[in-house]
Amino acid sequence: MRMERQVALITGASSGIGQALAAELAGRGVQLALTGRSIAPDAVHFTCAGDLTDAAFREELVRRTLERYGRIDILVNNAGVGLYQPSWQAEVGATRYMFELNVFAALHLAQLVVPGMRERRQGMVVNIGSIASKVTLPWFTLYSATKHALAAFSDGLRMENADFGVKVILVCPGYVKTRFQENVLVGRPPDELASGKRFATNAPDLARAIADGMARERRTLVYPASGWALVAAWQYLPRVVEAFFRRLQRNHS
Ligand SMILES: NC(=O)c1ccc[n+]([C@@H]2O[C@H](COP(=O)([O-])OP(=O)(O)OC[C@H]3O[C@@H](n4cnc5c(N)ncnc54)[C@H](OP(=O)(O)O)[C@@H]3O)[C@@H](O)[C@H]2O)c1
Repeated sequence: MRMERQVALITGASSGIGQALAAELAGRGVQLALTGRSIAPDAVHFTCAGDLTDAAFREELVRRTLERYGRIDILVNNAGVGLYQPSWQAEVGATRYMFELNVFAALHLAQLVVPGMRERRQGMVVNIGSIASKVTLPWFTLYSATKHALAAFSDGLRMENADFGVKVILVCPGYVKTRFQENVLVGRPPDELASGKRFATNAPDLARAIADGMARERRTLVYPASGWALVAAWQYLPRVVEAFFRRLQRNHS
C-alpha cells in the first residue's frame, strides 16, 4: 500500500503503541485522525477526545473524521486494556468494559468505516491484537479471550472483503514497554513476567514494524518474530506450554 496522503484513524493514540504509530505514520506522509480520552490537540492532525466504550462517541468520531478529511483509508483499532483476574473470579463489570473496548469498539468502528472502503475499493483495517491473540495466557485468561475474538474477527473481515480491495492486518506484539501494565483494570502480572521486562520491545520499533507491514500488506504480524516459536509450540506441543504457564501461574497464586 502506498502510504503518502492516506487518511488513517488511530485509536489509543494518546500513549504507548498508538502514539508511536501516529508519529511513524506522520513521518511517512499519512494524514491522521487521533483519538483517546486524553488526546492532546495537535497543530497538524485532527484530534477527537472521547471514550470508545460509548457507542455514540464512536459514531461522532467517524462523522467528525469524515467531515475533516472526506474519507478514512486506514482504521487502526489500537485502544485496549487488560485485566489480571482468574476467569472464575473476574468482576463482571470490568470484564464487560474490557470486551467493550477491546472487541466491540473495534467491531463497531469497522462497521462504520468499511462500507466506505468497499465503495472506493480500497482500504485497510489494522487490529492491534497481542501474542494473547494466538496463545492463551492463564494469568490473562479474559484478556486473551478478547484478543482471540479480535483475531477471529480480523481473519473473517479479511476474507469477507478480499474482493473489495480492503486489507486486514492483525498485529500480535509480545511485551512492549508502555503504560499498559499500569493501566490494567484489575490485578497485576506474575512477578516472573514483571522480571521478563528486560526482553520487552519498545513502541517506536514496533511502530516501524507495523508501518512496514502495512506498506507490504502483511496478513499477520507477530512482533518480535521470535513469538512465532511460542505460537507453534502452543499449536503442536500444547501440554508442554501449558505446564510451563501453569508453573508461572502457580507461583503467582
Ligand atoms: N504493551 C504491551 O505489552 C502490549 C502487548 C500486546 C498488545 N498490546 C495492545 O496494544 C494496544 C495499545 O496498548 P499500549 O501498550 O500502548 O497501552 P497504553 O499505553 O495503556 O495505551 C492504551 C491506549 O488506549 C486508550 N484507551 C484506553 N481506554 C480507553 C477508552 N475507554 N476510550 C478510548 N481510549 C482508551 C488510552 O488513551 P486514554 O487513556 O487517553 O483514553 C491509550 O491511548 C492495546 O490494545 C493492547 O492490548 C500491548
